[in-house]
Amino acid sequence: MCGIVGYIGNREAYPIILNGLKRLEYRGYDSAGIALYDGTGIQMAKTKGKVSDLESRADAEISKKGSLGLGHTRWATHGVPNDINSHPHYSNSGDLVIIHNGIIENYASIKKELINRGYTFKSDTDTEVLVNLIEEIKKKEDVKLGKAVQIALNQVVGAYAIALFDRKKPDEIVVARLGSPLAIGIGENEFFVASDATPFIEFTNNAIYLKDEEMAIIRLKKGVKVRKIKDDSLVDPYIHELQLNLEQIEKGGYDHFMLKEIYEQPKVIKDTYRGRLLANKGIIKLGGLEDHINKFTNADRIIIVACGTSWHAGLVAEYIFEDWARIPVEVEYASEFRYRNPVITEKDVVIAISQSGETADTLAAIKLAKERGAFVYGVCNVVGSSISRETDSGTYTHAGPEIGVASTKAFTTQITVLTMIALRLADVKGTISHSDYMMHLRELDTIPTLVEEALKSDDKIREIAYEFKDAANFLYLGRGYNFPVALEGALKLKEISYIHAEGYPAAEMKHGPIALIDEHMPVVVIAVNSNHYEKVVSNIEEIKARKGKIIAVVTEGDTTVKELADYIMEVPKTPETLSPLVTTIPLQLLSYHIAVMLDRNVDQPRNLAKSVTVE
Ligand code: G6P
Repeated sequence: MCGIVGYIGNREAYPIILNGLKRLEYRGYDSAGIALYDGTGIQMAKTKGKVSDLESRADAEISKKGSLGLGHTRWATHGVPNDINSHPHYSNSGDLVIIHNGIIENYASIKKELINRGYTFKSDTDTEVLVNLIEEIKKKEDVKLGKAVQIALNQVVGAYAIALFDRKKPDEIVVARLGSPLAIGIGENEFFVASDATPFIEFTNNAIYLKDEEMAIIRLKKGVKVRKIKDDSLVDPYIHELQLNLEQIEKGGYDHFMLKEIYEQPKVIKDTYRGRLLANKGIIKLGGLEDHINKFTNADRIIIVACGTSWHAGLVAEYIFEDWARIPVEVEYASEFRYRNPVITEKDVVIAISQSGETADTLAAIKLAKERGAFVYGVCNVVGSSISRETDSGTYTHAGPEIGVASTKAFTTQITVLTMIALRLADVKGTISHSDYMMHLRELDTIPTLVEEALKSDDKIREIAYEFKDAANFLYLGRGYNFPVALEGALKLKEISYIHAEGYPAAEMKHGPIALIDEHMPVVVIAVNSNHYEKVVSNIEEIKARKGKIIAVVTEGDTTVKELADYIMEVPKTPETLSPLVTTIPLQLLSYHIAVMLDRNVDQPRNLAKSVTVE
């Protein structure tokens, strides 16, 4: 939940690290810091606040010289966000400097022991404890930094991606990971370290993704040596050729990443099914699925585990898997699943959905499911991420980097993948008629055009946003396939505008939320053509009778709801089963515009982080 960057080479490290931190700010943004070795000693600047605050502080306080350095952008776990708790942290001697993403769970007992040995601590962080443990081992055992790190990490319980260096040996950086991502960029006579590859993409296409329980010693002249933390054995690392380009991680003329990502949806949905869906030939081909298709078709049930927006995509999947493939589905919050001793058997298939592939709770749920013998399939966006490696097989969404903290394009691409899986299974099982199957393939192939069409309502949605930007609460209602979309719409609004919003199945309104409705309550109702259309119309009447303000998402050409609603947001016609892919678009735009009008930090909403690598 923090971003880490390091550089060792011949260039000035400061601009590389600073720029890298800006790209990693999605991972945490309550404080930031940088440490540089300037040829004689360490210069450090750190501050509560954003990377831009760090920039001002560095301008005022340090020379910014040096070609070895570490930088950090934080999402606080241990210790409030303030200057002192910001990373990097020194060891007591001032020789070692560390940055850390993760949590050291047994830090209190280690700290106690170090205090007994005379160590003092400036911050409340677990990280300062770790760097002093490493220093103590280095001195006591008289070993090199790499060895001291290895011994220390064997005493530590928790999760980490760390990078550190010793000012007395400024030709190396030592890094290690367990549970938090860490990539090493390999350039010519220079090396980069970062939580993901975005900070070094313009310098090199070659990267090593450290695996859990691995560490690396990066020496300027001798290159990278990867070792297992447990037994110090050497590992031959795989060097990935990165497919990322700079354009993908820049705003490209949009005011915010979130808006750019909303507008990218027609393209990335297509990227996600390109080569996998051959609509006219009636073919769906997902590499990861074909080899294991019997696992699915013989499964007693499918359990979907995920968090946040990915969990909402899982809820949509529940409807389509059950409807088409006739396999019972349960959708679980990964955080609850992992702790409630669930009944899992070898005949269960678990699907883990995650944009980042790093969410700690989802990862833990996968491990539990595997321990109990289930086959685990991943639907991830980030290639090479922990979840994609931990699962038995899977399908990547091809959404490209999602940087806005509020997830948008990840959601629609996840639904695209899950739709393809469900259709393929239904076809194999013979639980869908051929004509229905073919119709859905063809309709799925038109979704990018329909999303494009839905985006054309942007100006109108901005006007609606203006009318409701000062509301204190919102209710979102949907039925069937669009119930999860109502939940997702409410989540988007909460996340980025800080307006309280609740999503409900439309028919449940009468069992509680109806009490909230008065002339001040905006109610967003998804009322597109569906089997429940008349029922939803009745719900709208009920809201109207209580003077609630109705904002309805309707199918183009609708006349009934248009008469009843205060405002409508039109989307093109789709089969009900695929409608979440288009009905979600106006809801993303509505929350975006409200947040902008309220002057919120759309891409980095308070208290949130893009990828939650702690429990
Ligand atoms: C965080 C993000 C959400 C995301 C959730 C799950 O809470 O802010 O946008 O939906 O994590 O993340 P994942 O990467 O596993 O999909």
